Order: sequence, then C-alpha cells, then structure tokens
Amino acid sequence: MNIIQNTAPINVVIITGSLRRDSLTLKMAKALIDLAPPSLKMEIVNIGNLQMYNEDLEIPFPPEEWVIFRERIKKAGAVLFITPEYNRSLPAVLKNAVDVGSAPHGQNVYKNKPAAIVSLSPGAMGAFGANHHLRQSLVFLDMPTMQQPEAYIGYSGQLFDDNGAFIQKSTKAYLLKFILAFDRWIEIQKVKS
Ligand SMILES: Cc1cc2nc3c(=O)[nH]c(=O)nc-3n(C[C@H](O)[C@H](O)[C@H](O)COP(=O)(O)O)c2cc1C
Repeated sequence: MNIIQNTAPINVVIITGSLRRDSLTLKMAKALIDLAPPSLKMEIVNIGNLQMYNEDLEIPFPPEEWVIFRERIKKAGAVLFITPEYNRSLPAVLKNAVDVGSAPHGQNVYKNKPAAIVSLSPGAMGAFGANHHLRQSLVFLDMPTMQQPEAYIGYSGQLFDDNGAFIQKSTKAYLLKFILAFDRWIEIQKVKS
C-alpha cells in the first residue's frame, strides 16, 4: 500500500482523565507532546468544564461548553486518550467527555476518528482496567483505535524528573515508539477512508 504523507500536520486532540493540578497524567500528556513528530500537532483539550451528561440539557439548546467541545473534536484529525485508573475503571470525568461527544443520538463526533490510549498508574498494572473499559466504549463509538503497541505505564510516580522529562531512557524510547506508531496508524486510516 502506498501511503501519501500529508504535508499539513494532523491535529490531534489529547483528552486526559485527571483534573488534578499536579496530575501525572497531565505530565505524560506534555511529555508526549514533546516527543511527537512534526506531522502531529497535539493539543490538550479541557474537559473539566463539561456539565455531567443529562439528555434534558440538550433541549432547547445544549450547554455552550458541550457545543465548543463537540466542535473541537469534530475538527480534530485524531484523538489521544491519556488516563489514570479509578477503581479499576476510567475516571468519571473522562467517561463524561466520552458521553458528551457521543450525543445526541446520531451525532457522535468521535465516529471514524483514529484513536490511541495511554494509561498510567502509580501501581504495577499501568491502569489496565481503565484502558480496556475505555477501549470498550471506543468500539461502540466507531473509533479505529490502535491495538499495538499498547501503553500500560506502571510506577507513574517515578517517571518524571522535576522538569517533567522522562527519568528512564527506556520509558522515553517506548513512548517514542508508541507515538510514531500512532502517527502511522492515523495515516493508514486516512488512506482507508
Ligand atoms: C478515586 C480514586 C480511585 C483510584 N483507583 C485506582 C485504581 O483502581 N487503580 C490504580 O492503579 N490507581 C488508582 N488510584 C490512584 C491513581 O492512579 C493515582 O491517584 C494517580 O496518580 C491519579 O492520576 P493523576 O496523577 O493523573 O491525577 C485511584 C485514585 C483515586 C482518587
């Protein structure tokens, strides 16, 4: 298959599953932005201002925050989810962003957007549960989600130095491999569509 490299960078929206000021997830997002190739223009989108999903709020007009968020996802070429794990699943704030973008019925803004998931946790299991619960929703939302390489990053409390750079070269090398694979994944989805 011939893959034609687009000269304009692809706009990748990053959605993170933590609102905490000193969030390790946010540090991961910033570190991945630094690692990304020039073909990807990655931006973190705020989801902390989205009202909890309630279908009643769609009528007569949905909240402005929902409208802005949905438009932002619509314009994106791809979505990168980066999440911690809460109680062996994804944090409610992230599930809410998934739900807000998926509605109203028939207007799912995530449809066909190439996606990837990085999950991280201070424990050993790298938020595997959050990663796969999110993956389950992305199947329904019809997002072609990268399968390999996977990114379940454990011991997240030991990943970053005071400047937010990766302490271990091996972590940096693995995540570089991940983000380059995502770049290729996005290109492949473009050729298919
Ligand atoms: C409500 C709650 C539930 C949590 N559940 C899990 C869990 O199931 N698995 C896990 O590895 N860590 C769990 N943690 C710990 C988080 O992984 C940890 O606080 C992490 O640093 C949160 O991400 P952040 O640094 O980006 O905010 C939980 C934390 C909270 C606040």
